[in-house]
Amino acid sequence: MKVLVTGGAGYLGSHTVLELLAAGHEAVVLDDFSNASPRAMSALGMLANREIAWTEGDIRDAGCLDDVLGGGGFDAVMHFAGLKAVGESVEEPLRYYGTNVAGTACLLERMEAHGVRTLVFSSSATVYRVADTEDPAPLGENAPTGAESPYGRTKLIVEELLRDLCAAKPDWRVSVLRYFNAVGAHPSGVIGEDPTGVPRNLLPCIAQVAVGRRELLEVFGNDYPTRDGTCVRDYLHVVDLARAHIRAVEYLERRPGFAVHNLGTGRGHTVFEAIRAFERASGKTIPYRIVGRRPGDAPVTLADPERAREELGWTAEWDLDRMCADLWRWQSTHPEGFE
Ligand code: WQD
Repeated sequence: MKVLVTGGAGYLGSHTVLELLAAGHEAVVLDDFSNASPRAMSALGMLANREIAWTEGDIRDAGCLDDVLGGGGFDAVMHFAGLKAVGESVEEPLRYYGTNVAGTACLLERMEAHGVRTLVFSSSATVYRVADTEDPAPLGENAPTGAESPYGRTKLIVEELLRDLCAAKPDWRVSVLRYFNAVGAHPSGVIGEDPTGVPRNLLPCIAQVAVGRRELLEVFGNDYPTRDGTCVRDYLHVVDLARAHIRAVEYLERRPGFAVHNLGTGRGHTVFEAIRAFERASGKTIPYRIVGRRPGDAPVTLADPERAREELGWTAEWDLDRMCADLWRWQSTHPEGFE
């Protein structure tokens, strides 16, 4: 299939482009490079051993979308382009709704106009209601939703828009993929997460301490009701996540309509366990300081990945040690990211 990958120069998008090509599909990238480097495109080309077509553009620019989609022959779109910093979304909700909701609506209108009606949408576990019970069950796709941040609400609203679209237009095929905590990097160490500005997520923060870009890690609370007092998350290797997208778009070829799948391992690790895993992988000591809790953090968030296993034939394969080893190989060879 020929697939347009919006946000394809970014962390998750670039890893997915590689897996699309490895599976024998064609990929064309659309990215505004607001949170990605054009150097990611040359790195992708080198890894894929071929030129990868890309266009710089914004999903809110209908003319740009018409030029790209009009260029022809797309079978599907994988939509990663969007703003994704939870904290920032609280300060700048209009920018988040404008890009994540209005931008996606613009993309869908232009897809409809060009007869492209297959979409894989990058959603997030943030759409689930935060369970503040001590030992919440792993989240299935029918778990109650209720986002706690503007970022999460934009994801939820787009999911409902897509559900309504599929109900109205039976020829649309939509896969919503709810990501748990994607971490790590391609084993080559040639591409990886290159957060613009100060990273907020745990593993990029740990990696920046290990490579000397940050003095120490702040641990946001160790008084949670968990095995070591720090929060538990379902960390997932970014390559496993990318591979799920191939299964999802191939699933849509067989099955029209609307589908939702959680992407996670079903296994959880605490912050301290992640720190120790990264110390093992890097051989570095990660100095840290315990500080106050971060508002909105749930004690435990875990996926129930059973539906993806059954319906997509997908299971995450790589464990936390592998995630840390691959992340360290990227970070240690690219201390300043793509620059
Ligand atoms: C994990 C744990 C922190 C940084 C978020 C989004 C989610 C998805 C992934 C987009 C928490 C602790 C973190 C630090 C710390 N993104 N932590 N010190 O919050 O589970 O998920 O990112 O889709 O939507 O919500 O991930 O990596 O930010 O935090 O102690 O410097 O690490 O408190 O317990 P989170 P995270």
